[in-house]
Amino acid sequence: MNYKEWLAGQTATRLEGVSEEALAEWIEYPPNPQMGDLSLPCFKLSKQLRKAPQQIAESLVQGWEGNPLVERVEAVSGYFNVFLNKSAYATEVVGEVLAQGERFGSQNIGQGRSIPIDYSSPNIAKTFHIGHLRSTVIGGALYRIFNFLGYKSVGINHLGDWGTQFGKLIVAYKLWGDKDAVEADGIAELQRIYVKFHDEADVRPELEDEARAWFVKLEQGDEEATKLWRWFVEISLKEFHKMYDLLGVKFDSYAGESFYNDQMAAVLEELKAKSLLEEDGGALLVKLEDYNMPPALMVKKDGGTLYHTRDVTAAIYRKKTYDFEKAVYVTDAGQSLHFQQLFKVIELMGYDWAKQMVHVPFGKVSLEGAKLSTRKGNVINLEELLTKAIEKTREIIEEKNPELENKEEVARQVGVGAIIFNDLSNNRVKDIVFSWDEALNFEGETGPYVQYAHARACSILRRAEADASVSTPDLGLLTDPSEQGLVRELYIFRERVVQAMDKLEPSIISRYLIDLAQAFNRFYRECPILKSDVPADVKNARLALVKAATIVLTSGLALIGLEAPEKM
Ligand code: ARG
Repeated sequence: MNYKEWLAGQTATRLEGVSEEALAEWIEYPPNPQMGDLSLPCFKLSKQLRKAPQQIAESLVQGWEGNPLVERVEAVSGYFNVFLNKSAYATEVVGEVLAQGERFGSQNIGQGRSIPIDYSSPNIAKTFHIGHLRSTVIGGALYRIFNFLGYKSVGINHLGDWGTQFGKLIVAYKLWGDKDAVEADGIAELQRIYVKFHDEADVRPELEDEARAWFVKLEQGDEEATKLWRWFVEISLKEFHKMYDLLGVKFDSYAGESFYNDQMAAVLEELKAKSLLEEDGGALLVKLEDYNMPPALMVKKDGGTLYHTRDVTAAIYRKKTYDFEKAVYVTDAGQSLHFQQLFKVIELMGYDWAKQMVHVPFGKVSLEGAKLSTRKGNVINLEELLTKAIEKTREIIEEKNPELENKEEVARQVGVGAIIFNDLSNNRVKDIVFSWDEALNFEGETGPYVQYAHARACSILRRAEADASVSTPDLGLLTDPSEQGLVRELYIFRERVVQAMDKLEPSIISRYLIDLAQAFNRFYRECPILKSDVPADVKNARLALVKAATIVLTSGLALIGLEAPEKM
């Protein structure tokens, strides 16, 4: 049940002219349980009711005797505080979690409406770097959150697989390429010859012309050019898929930039027909100075199309194909201007759905000590990063729990989980400095910490299995402060998921998981479960609470892309 709505209903009848919806918005969960389980800050009503907040709060305290959900109420400093009946609260919340299992917290807000989410979107023949990792992790989390709330997420990997750079790569390959080296070293080798192209072109500028000519051939579907390009894509995707497999992400569409090749002409026509396209020194662009933005370049002097051209085309295609409720783009904050321009161009084309497009920007990641950074400053190779995280976790397991059965599997779940969680532990727009010690700390605010709470809970359930005299537990017995603390955290999961969606902010879930794990650990410290002197009915109720905690920990972790090993 939804306690905010319930209390709003109960109080609305006592406050003339105040709507239930408004009350439900204002009711809070006090951070400190001494101030109740629910609280209405009455200063919000002061103006409308022309009464002092404390007076309003006091007017609400009568008539709660006999209400089975309420233990007591109070009016303090303008707040109306409600202390729920502990037994009823625990019975309701834990009962609901156990009954709904992993569906607990899910809702049908979206009613199947579609949300294309453009995320990850690395560039072919270039390293998949830590910025792409953040996009993958944030986008992947949003994907699952929207689905959990009844939307139909569409994961789109808008691969950077088109553009003049492919002309250069073809020339480079034809000059210095070696099939075996590319097969063996993949992207690294492609990048090597690409860099060589630039070095050589400095002294042999005619290479640039050749490159342009090859890209034109590619655009026209030339067989040789297409074959090479396909191969570069294939080689790159193979490497990207290694990351995606490790991270557990999937996409519904790999329609990258090249996908729009034969749709761009029509879009350019449309821009022209709508008088939006202007010529500037041979190039075509959409001027945006009225909106304080530089122009969006659509066609280069040499006739080539650009990133912008493909994004405008892709947006129109997505609207047509998915009839979206919202179109989401997840990239680093460095591309904010690009998306502002894009959304403006769509708006100027007369599409009112421009306002349904959102950019979800995120900050930079740097490595503490920058040990892993490769030659060029802060470029972090992601595969190295993930492999290293797994290795380090393996060492920790070796030290802490050498008897563990499936060490490899757990090292992967925890090592990769640590990286993902670290990426999501702060507001996404914040820059983060990655520190190994912090990310892998089992005691800190980390993925491993949450996973460990889950594993600990599972171990209790395993040990209990042997001697369980399990009958239907009396959940009403869970009235201890630490039991109630955990109940409160379980209850709030549903709201946190909605907040994460509204704010497009998966860190709301990761921070919630820290609170939940802490509440669980406190309960674990304060309430013995399997000790011989614990009465059977208390033990049963506590085990049910442990079970409920494992359920919500698992679904919360799953939403942000972490697995929940049962042993670690
Ligand atoms: N490939 C781009 C990059 O690596 C990201 C693409 C983001 N999506 C988009 N529709 N522009 O920076």
